[in-house]
Amino acid sequence: MSHLSNVWFKVTDLQVATGRGCRVTTVDGHEYLDFAAGIAVNSTGHCHPKVTAAIAEQAERFVHAQANVFTHDLMEPLAAKLNEITPDGIDTFFFANSGAEITEAAVKLAKQATKRQNVIVFQGSFHGRTHMAMAMTTSKTIYRAGHAPLPSGVFVSPYPDPLASDQEATINASLRAFDRLLLTQTAPSETAAVILEPVLGEGGYIPAPRAFVEGIVERCREHGIMFIADEVQSGFGRTGSWFAVDHLGIEPDIICMAKGIASGFPFSALGTRRELDDLWTKGSHGGTYGGNPIGCAAALATIEVMSEPGFMDNVRARGSQLRDALSELKERYPVLRQVRGPGLMVGASFENPDRVPAVIQHCLREGRLILMNAGTYGNIIRWMPPLVVSASEIDEAVAAFSNALKATD
Ligand SMILES: Cc1ncc(COP(=O)(O)O)c(C=O)c1O
Repeated sequence: MSHLSNVWFKVTDLQVATGRGCRVTTVDGHEYLDFAAGIAVNSTGHCHPKVTAAIAEQAERFVHAQANVFTHDLMEPLAAKLNEITPDGIDTFFFANSGAEITEAAVKLAKQATKRQNVIVFQGSFHGRTHMAMAMTTSKTIYRAGHAPLPSGVFVSPYPDPLASDQEATINASLRAFDRLLLTQTAPSETAAVILEPVLGEGGYIPAPRAFVEGIVERCREHGIMFIADEVQSGFGRTGSWFAVDHLGIEPDIICMAKGIASGFPFSALGTRRELDDLWTKGSHGGTYGGNPIGCAAALATIEVMSEPGFMDNVRARGSQLRDALSELKERYPVLRQVRGPGLMVGASFENPDRVPAVIQHCLREGRLILMNAGTYGNIIRWMPPLVVSASEIDEAVAAFSNALKATD
């Protein structure tokens, strides 16, 4: 009998022993190509030698140096590095352990900075599994059902439909609905923040159109509403630049980072401007483990690896290779409806969601390839390999996927 909780939904039944780069090895010695990457987490691959060395070295010095009690010698260097890589204007950082904690923190900061109480989120969003984060999550009911009452003050605005034939029309309709929300449900004077994933993650790997994000940011600026970019999944090189907002030239007031930030060590960061952080009442937020020294060491090593020449070029090149290969398959298999997403945050949307589990299972059993789905209807296969993936590993994965499409046709 297992003593483990059954609450974890399982993507595979694999029992793994080790991981290296893009591959994991099971306890019975089988090797798999891991294109789930810990749900877009293992940015530098499994056990990158520079990251594991930094973790091991730090573990010898200090495992836990609590941030209220001490300032250890990696906190400022990490903040300084984040200052270099985050959008202009973001110069002050707070650390925690997970994505949900950091989206919660972002909303707390926005409420204190604006003295307003409400938040606007977008249809299909995922911001985490704590109560406020659940209230802000609308990608699937499973994340919310049975947990009511959720915190109030969360208003949902539509996100442009990626499949709409008239993109301008869907963007304009979404912006009009946003305006209507401000007129009918949450007045600007009550609205602390808008939180947006620049590429919708769990909601189906949907890049937010530039004109849509620009329209939202313009409205935030006009009304003094904080614009929070949730880059938990899209950040840290996943889209081929440090952050997805870099592609859009947008400067958020608050940016949420986690997942890829420390190559798999639990770590998250909030970035904001000093003058906003100054409005955050000292002691009103914190946490036992935030800024953990091993996490800081892992994050610094991750940033070092990702700053090496050619790293981001690889993300962009492998992303193009993958999108081209999937687009070619789309021509052959009409069940594939759309291939989308920047860098290595690529979604393949299926006409028929029922096909998705069979394709994923075939890839796993026959191709030894780990893939996951996404989207409200479960009709997206998302491609989120480690960012160090090679051209031949992309070819290998696409071949397994192609075989799965053929076998399940
Ligand atoms: C965009 C986004 N925000 C927040 C979260 C929550 O992160 P965590 O699971 O680390 O709490 C996720 C997790 O998938 C995410 O994709």
